[in-house]
Amino acid sequence: MRIGINGMGRIGRGLFKALAGLPGLEVAAVNDVARPATLAHLLAHDSYYGPWGTPVEAGPGRLRLGGLDLPCLAGERPDQIPWGEHGVEWVVEATGRFKDRLSLSGHGRPVLLTASSREVDRQVVFGVNHGTIRPEDRLLSATSCTTHCVVPPLSVLHRAFGARAVLFNTVHCYNVGQTLVDAPRDDLRRARAGALNMIPTTTSASLAVESVLQELKGRVRGMAVRVPAPAVSLTELVVEAERPPAEPEAVNGALEAAASGALSGVLGLSRQELVSQDFLGSPFSAVVDAPLTAVQGTMIRLIAWYDNERGYVMRLVDLLAWLRDRI
Ligand SMILES: NC(=O)c1ccc[n+]([C@@H]2O[C@H](COP(=O)([O-])OP(=O)(O)OC[C@H]3O[C@@H](n4cnc5c(N)ncnc54)[C@H](OP(=O)(O)O)[C@@H]3O)[C@@H](O)[C@H]2O)c1
Repeated sequence: MRIGINGMGRIGRGLFKALAGLPGLEVAAVNDVARPATLAHLLAHDSYYGPWGTPVEAGPGRLRLGGLDLPCLAGERPDQIPWGEHGVEWVVEATGRFKDRLSLSGHGRPVLLTASSREVDRQVVFGVNHGTIRPEDRLLSATSCTTHCVVPPLSVLHRAFGARAVLFNTVHCYNVGQTLVDAPRDDLRRARAGALNMIPTTTSASLAVESVLQELKGRVRGMAVRVPAPAVSLTELVVEAERPPAEPEAVNGALEAAASGALSGVLGLSRQELVSQDFLGSPFSAVVDAPLTAVQGTMIRLIAWYDNERGYVMRLVDLLAWLRDRI
């Protein structure tokens, strides 16, 4: 599969690195509004994950690495990017700018969007509903990192105990959607300095979770608190159960069985007493913190950690590999 990546930001560069050297998933071209030299520098040096071992060089409209000489395009809109000239078959849309059907269709080929959108053919959480993708689905959304953290454990709890109502709160590191200093934004809380404040705000995952787990439509509500940490997030998930378990260990047992079975590689479970930095680089969509699982009456509460970049990027890779083989 020849892949084009639009938007070489945190997710685009993470995906680019994760795909490097993988057989059968070839990045054929990338596109960004930044200069190739800037992208080469940011690929080589990363404040979260450290230096990348692979030397990268830039030339006019090109990136060169490990014997590869790759087009680095500069279209500002999807319909201005000449993917066809470079044999791109699938586009990963990772700018965060284009989520509507018209813009996504501008790529002129199947698209995997790295954000939630109600305008796509299907919203997908790998491990849970990727099997429902049909060959005619041309515009896919891989939803959001938070949706990936909520859906796998929630699907297990729903099957085992029945979810009557669901609340979640994601304690999320700051990201590029916030501001470094106080600055005008429509969302008055996101207008405030991201590295200084705990910022209650919305999450697109509320709707995306219900789009993936349709049997829970109308029963899920979520929010986010953006916190002054640069990487790694956690979600507190509270489920009112139809068949409540007697003990937290019944919850952990059900999750552990899924983690070593159907959700292997997607869902993890930790029995250690860890903190956020311990999950930097974690390839899982969600790692349940087993000692923090609680049961109170009909309520189940669990905490799941996620590296919102690395875990998400790994699921993009899984999904692209699945699409290559099945579609
Ligand atoms: N970061 C996460 O943890 C995470 C996890 C899951 C999903 N996502 C989603 O993934 C998307 C990207 O997030 P991100 O964190 O990677 O953001 P990011 O670091 O800002 O990356 C976006 C990249 O696209 C570039 N860009 C902006 N406008 C463009 C255009 N018109 N054409 C081509 N490139 C353009 C940006 O350049 P400039 O910087 O010059 O604008 C930047 O390099 C968002 O929808 C986000 O919600 C993010």
